[in-house]
Amino acid sequence: MNLKPETLKKIETVIPRYPERRSALLPVLHLVQEDQGYISKEAMEWIAEQVGVEPIHVYELVTFYPMLRETPAGKKQIRVCRTLSCALAGSYKVCEIFQKRLGAPLNGVSDDGEYSVEFVECLASCGTAPAVLVDDKLYENVTPERTENFIKEHVCPNARPQQPAAEAVEGGEN
Ligand code: FES
Repeated sequence: MNLKPETLKKIETVIPRYPERRSALLPVLHLVQEDQGYISKEAMEWIAEQVGVEPIHVYELVTFYPMLRETPAGKKQIRVCRTLSCALAGSYKVCEIFQKRLGAPLNGVSDDGEYSVEFVECLASCGTAPAVLVDDKLYENVTPERTENFIKEHVCPNARPQQPAAEAVEGGEN
């Protein structure tokens, strides 16, 4: 595995902290993702070997936790909560606006590699829904009405101009 020396060092330090090597699986996954940006198949196999589990166990964990990625993200990651409070406050619409303005498909990356947009589950900010993460920074009350300005202020001052199809955001594209 082509990891940075400091990541390898952290992994060597973290594994012995657990009574069983397998218990270090989650922290090791986070360290590898921090280093590589995502967890590749090769990384899953390498991690499995390090902590003494089958690669399928690593795969299960990667696909279970929304914070772990199997594919590279954009340079800037937009994560929109889709759990109940946020969904009721318009987070699905918010996510659609992000996709259109940044040119990134849901769970994909924009053509220029700059942005990725995805849904996540509850970000523990339900009282101030909708909640959005930009990289690791949490923003609250990102309503559909505020999303255009939010993008300019916090994500991309030069985002694609708004389509006359605000209706398109609502599925009314012709
Ligand atoms: S439901 Fe979105 S933060 Fe909890």
